[in-house]
Amino acid sequence: MDQVRTPVPVAPVAVSVRRHRPDVARVVEGAGITGGDESPEGPLRDRYGRVHDDLRISVTDRCNLRCVYCMPEEGMTFLPHGQLLSFEEIERVARVARELGVRAIRLTGGEPLVRRDVVDLVARLKRLGFEDIAMTTNATRLAGLAPALAAAGLTRVNISCDSLRPERFAALRRRGDLSTVLHAMDVAEECGLAPLKVNVVLLRGRNDDEILDFAGFARDTGRIVRFIEFMPLDAQGEWGPEQLVRGREVFERIHAVWPLEEVPEPDRVAPAVRFRFVDGRGEIGLISTVSEPFCGTCNRLRLTADGSIRNCLFSDDEHVVRDILRSRGTDEEIAAVLRRAVWAKFPGHAINEPDFLRPHRSMSMIGG
Ligand code: 5AD
Ligand code: SF4
Repeated sequence: MDQVRTPVPVAPVAVSVRRHRPDVARVVEGAGITGGDESPEGPLRDRYGRVHDDLRISVTDRCNLRCVYCMPEEGMTFLPHGQLLSFEEIERVARVARELGVRAIRLTGGEPLVRRDVVDLVARLKRLGFEDIAMTTNATRLAGLAPALAAAGLTRVNISCDSLRPERFAALRRRGDLSTVLHAMDVAEECGLAPLKVNVVLLRGRNDDEILDFAGFARDTGRIVRFIEFMPLDAQGEWGPEQLVRGREVFERIHAVWPLEEVPEPDRVAPAVRFRFVDGRGEIGLISTVSEPFCGTCNRLRLTADGSIRNCLFSDDEHVVRDILRSRGTDEEIAAVLRRAVWAKFPGHAINEPDFLRPHRSMSMIGG
């Protein structure tokens, strides 16, 4: 490690003491990290050399759907509105992040489009000069908003869609309907929110018989279908490895019918491994978070809807910025929290290790 270690200014950071990498010792004392460090000058580099230039912003933990792999059908509790960062507060964190070299933003939720006036937030972020402002959405409200979102500066959308069969779509997502989502895909493309990516979470015995249908969909539409492994981030805690459909299996099943070749990406930081059809018709992606972790190239940081910086989906290590925002703290203090969060990042998620602990927050409370 050749970075210069600088002492951490004592700031009011709330830190979870629970670890997901028991092999990495952390020192947590009182309200702040001591004996810790933060990434020094320059971009947001962690102690393993990973540069963080992609910020995921969760704008709400609420959602109008209840996907089986994400939330229970009833009884989900959400943050009180007062705990959500305002758009001014989000913009401020984003501006500081921009100054520290963050180039890309993704708005997530919950479902980002259930938060009122998200178009306004996109416009604010656009003015900060980010190269890429994307959104992950369930698309139930996208058709009406896509023109305004595109005009405000949104560049791309990823749309979640786990089945191409209406009844099954309804069973997996419990609310909403397939036709609305398919229509929104058309509208999004008409508005230039392209290339469109379609996220499919595969669950063994529930939709893995649609792998070829989705591959055919990618070939017919030119949309990039990304098959995502089910991760232990469901609010119900029902995840189990037996429900997992590994990326390798997805590849083999598609490749046997329509040969695939990997799209070479020497500097890949995105989680998806890209494959194109050898006959030139379309592309798919495999997000094999569980079976083939891509932590070694991770460049992501997350801002939760209630104002904490998270350095990993699977770590409870959180660094609160909301208190700084609400106590007239300085931009330097916000920057220090970002640096500290990056510096504290673990090398990997360790889902496959026996002592892996599920994070306290589920996907919709972190921001996917
Ligand atoms: N495992 C894998 N993917 C998930 N998503 C939500 N919960 C899970 C989970 N437990 C997906 C959504 C969306 C993206 C943000 O993450 O379907 O596409
Ligand atoms: Fe909502 Fe997305 Fe969770 Fe489904 S996966 S319940 S759309 S937040």
